[in-house]
Amino acid sequence: MDPGPIEDALVRIVGRAHALDAPDHRAGYEVDWTGQFRGQARMVVRPASTAEASACVAACARRGVPLVAQGGNTGLVGGSVPDGTGDAVVLSTRRLTDIGTVDQPGAQITVGAGVTLQGLNEHLRPHRLELGIDLAARGSATVGGMAATNAGGIHVIKHGSMRRRISGIEAVLGDGAVVSHLAGLDKDNTGYDLSSLLCGSEGTLGVITAVRLRLVPMAVERVTALTAWAGMRPMIEGLAQLRRALPALEAAEYMVRPGVELVLDRYQLSDPFPAPYPAYLLIEVGAEHDPTSEFATAIAALEGVRDVAVALDGQARERLWALRELHTEALSAAGPPRKYDVTVPPVSIPDFLDQVVAELVAGTTCHHFGHLADGNVHLNVLGVGDRPDAELDEIDGRVLGLVARHGGSISAEHGIGRAKRRWLGLSRSAAEISAFRAIKTGLDPAGIMNPGVLLPDLG
Ligand code: FAD
Ligand code: MLT
Ligand code: ZN
Repeated sequence: MDPGPIEDALVRIVGRAHALDAPDHRAGYEVDWTGQFRGQARMVVRPASTAEASACVAACARRGVPLVAQGGNTGLVGGSVPDGTGDAVVLSTRRLTDIGTVDQPGAQITVGAGVTLQGLNEHLRPHRLELGIDLAARGSATVGGMAATNAGGIHVIKHGSMRRRISGIEAVLGDGAVVSHLAGLDKDNTGYDLSSLLCGSEGTLGVITAVRLRLVPMAVERVTALTAWAGMRPMIEGLAQLRRALPALEAAEYMVRPGVELVLDRYQLSDPFPAPYPAYLLIEVGAEHDPTSEFATAIAALEGVRDVAVALDGQARERLWALRELHTEALSAAGPPRKYDVTVPPVSIPDFLDQVVAELVAGTTCHHFGHLADGNVHLNVLGVGDRPDAELDEIDGRVLGLVARHGGSISAEHGIGRAKRRWLGLSRSAAEISAFRAIKTGLDPAGIMNPGVLLPDLG
């Protein structure tokens, strides 16, 4: 029997007010944060519960209609927006905002997928707990999106990426079935770990509707400093010393002078140092007790450091962090940048960067910054805006090929999305990709969940 038009079915499920089909209502859901990935949705639906989300997915599966899950739409690899065909439905999770009670003894909480990172941490503050993940898009990025991308950010050195912070997930699979495993048991050997599998699946296996999170004690005291260096090599050696001296080190973010200058100029900020330096490492220690004295001892013993600016109050701390966190926006304004979020072993970073610069074509400039302790380099190549696709592919192949030759990963924390799917084979073997396809077919038999994302085309 003909199930009837998908649009009518979706209106019946979520109500007219939350089934958006007018172009101006859909528009914000059809372009990503970078402005580089655009598409067209058949309809945008905003379910208010897991049951509604399940009914939406089942209705799409029955008709073979593709579905794109979208949270805060801050992803940087094009996975959160539909393609240009106008076939796909976008399912926005922004109304899935239930927040459960804080389990104090277990230090866990269950929250709806649409809760933002900032909203979550604000809710947790009176309980003196936090998620242990932080990133500059905190005001918009959702817990569901962060789970779906296995987000990293600035505290991975201490608390790991999102997968380590998740003890359970509730999700709607590609046929509409709901899998819910939210008890948050630390010991639970009862078969496949679906939560871990859904984490990092980028909307290709199911829609995550709720997440059980492991929390950490809130760092009530934080000490922050910007350290200046003669180059990347001494800075990497300095980081090794800091890691030994400061077990509570929770951030070690690097920048280099061209990026810092871009930020200083664009936002009219003042340089924290009287002189320019080639490289900078922003470090932060967070603890439940005042870490100032061990921090001061570690800094005093640091070899090779050229200058240090310590933040003595909250405003000074924000000024130092602004230098680092405004890189993404400043580069977008100077761009569009070709973005590569990659990992290489920290010791290989200087050689890798030298080789990238040597490989780049004339007329391009390479900016870089990132999470040094994780070996996570954010390369942003400017000067590529109007180049033909074939030339962009050539640049991608050269940069990502170098990453692979250094034993790195072509995606450190943003995911594969649409941007890197043709390059997945540089980081994953044929056998692994074939296992991925088997999992995809099992959990999404109609192949409707975010087609064109993560998995490369066959052939
Ligand atoms: P979206 O962008 O909406 O979606 C991202 C992907 O997840 C898509 O494939 C989408 O289909 C899927 N998805 C979203 N929600 C669900 C769901 N409920 N169920 C199933 N699939 C879903 N990332 C980092 O890791 N570290 C950083 O330091 C960092 N810094 C950033 C700074 C800026 C200024 C910006 C703009 C982005 C940054 N990001 C960073 C990238 C981004 O914020 C993260 O990838 C984040 O996890 C995306 O969350 P979101 O809710 O916006 O997801
Ligand atoms: C960051 O660490 O600031 C990000 O992941 C965003 C980016 O790569 O631009
Ligand atoms: Zn990052």
